[in-house]
Amino acid sequence: MDGYWLDWAGLLLRWLHVVAAIAWIGASFYFVWLDNHLIPPQEPALQAKGVSGELWAVHGGGFYNPQKYRLAPPVLPEKLHWFRWEAYTTWLSGMALLTALYFLRPGYLVDPSVAALAQWQAVMLALGGLLLGTVLYEGVCRVFASKPVVLASLLLGLVGALCFAFAQYFAPRAAFLLTGATLACWMAGNVLWVIIPGQRRMVAAIAAQRQPDVSDGLRGKQRSLHNNYLTLPVLLAMISNHYAFLYQQEQSWLVLWLLMLAGALIRHFFNRRHHGVADWRFPLGACLLLALVAWRVAPQPAAPVVRAEGVDEVQVQRVLTERCVSCHAAKPTQAGFAAPPAGLRLDDRHAIAANAVRIHQQVVLSRTMPLANLTQMTESERQLISRWFAAQGQGGQP
Ligand code: HEC
Repeated sequence: MDGYWLDWAGLLLRWLHVVAAIAWIGASFYFVWLDNHLIPPQEPALQAKGVSGELWAVHGGGFYNPQKYRLAPPVLPEKLHWFRWEAYTTWLSGMALLTALYFLRPGYLVDPSVAALAQWQAVMLALGGLLLGTVLYEGVCRVFASKPVVLASLLLGLVGALCFAFAQYFAPRAAFLLTGATLACWMAGNVLWVIIPGQRRMVAAIAAQRQPDVSDGLRGKQRSLHNNYLTLPVLLAMISNHYAFLYQQEQSWLVLWLLMLAGALIRHFFNRRHHGVADWRFPLGACLLLALVAWRVAPQPAAPVVRAEGVDEVQVQRVLTERCVSCHAAKPTQAGFAAPPAGLRLDDRHAIAANAVRIHQQVVLSRTMPLANLTQMTESERQLISRWFAAQGQGGQP
């Protein structure tokens, strides 16, 4: 598809995806918060009705008094609100976005230095990974549903295995996204296959004046809690794309896993705090993990550059023309680009000289560019840019 229209599709889908996700996660956070703050009602009338907890809140100029029933109200209200389209919209727009950004743009999924896959193979493998990861999650949850601690440990291991597995086949940037997308499939699957059907059965039981099955409620609660812990890790994976220092690493899968763990620890702190327990070990542990990762992925101080008298500007220009100009030109030739990304053109001497700091930053320090190394820049070319930059000014300050 023409790059310009693909960009529009990407923009609109991303907009929808973010808004739907805010609605989903917002509702999910709100209900966890609500559940954790309920207090048993004092009024005998409420107790007699089967209300197990209630809460008072003021918001947007009004007072609210939600009540939670021990199992279900004796009679179903006429209008019962369900929360599911937020989740489905988030998932559907996310898959469409994945298609627009990765599946329809050759080269973003595949990094030949990781695995030499054809684009169609990479797409099939990505879809297979999403599916297999989700089936494994469902299987583990079913077998170990009654052992929450074992289940949590197994899921932590499964997340690590996914981080690792995707990193073996895909460009690191895509691997991060696919890992996040798999966890997002778990979350949407929990809503579609467990929480909503369970609620349907409960509602049907009440309508038929039968006692609803407690296990439906418990299973729904467990999956809803999983979703709660998955939120921060998934969001991290989704925004990680902008931070090449995370994924352009030898062991990028470990970086992702540790960051996801930090997200879950932070979430755990808030869940406990809702109950009045502020256990600072959890955020502290998360901070230590983040610090460890930050220290581990910090750019190595550039190797001392021999004062480079002989760096030939023409040579630098030739390298940039070969490796960058397919995107960074007034009319990019790279499929999927309609305008020079970041407004940056590198197709003439003056632009190159004026952007030396940015070029050095992106090519040598963060190694973000060429994007996903689509144009296969070599190590010695990066060293050339490093020497050129150092030679530009005294001590590397052009
Ligand atoms: C496949 C297309 C592609 C190629 C090839 C490519 N870039 Fe980029 N470049 C991008 C995109 C997309 C962005 C915007 C990234 C963003 O906004 O997150 C970008 C942004 C940049 C930026 C701006 C970053 C900033 O925020 O200051 C610089 C500098 C840059 N590229 C330099 C290079 C250099 C140097 C090369 C060649 C060695 C190169 N690029 C090759 C796609 C490409």
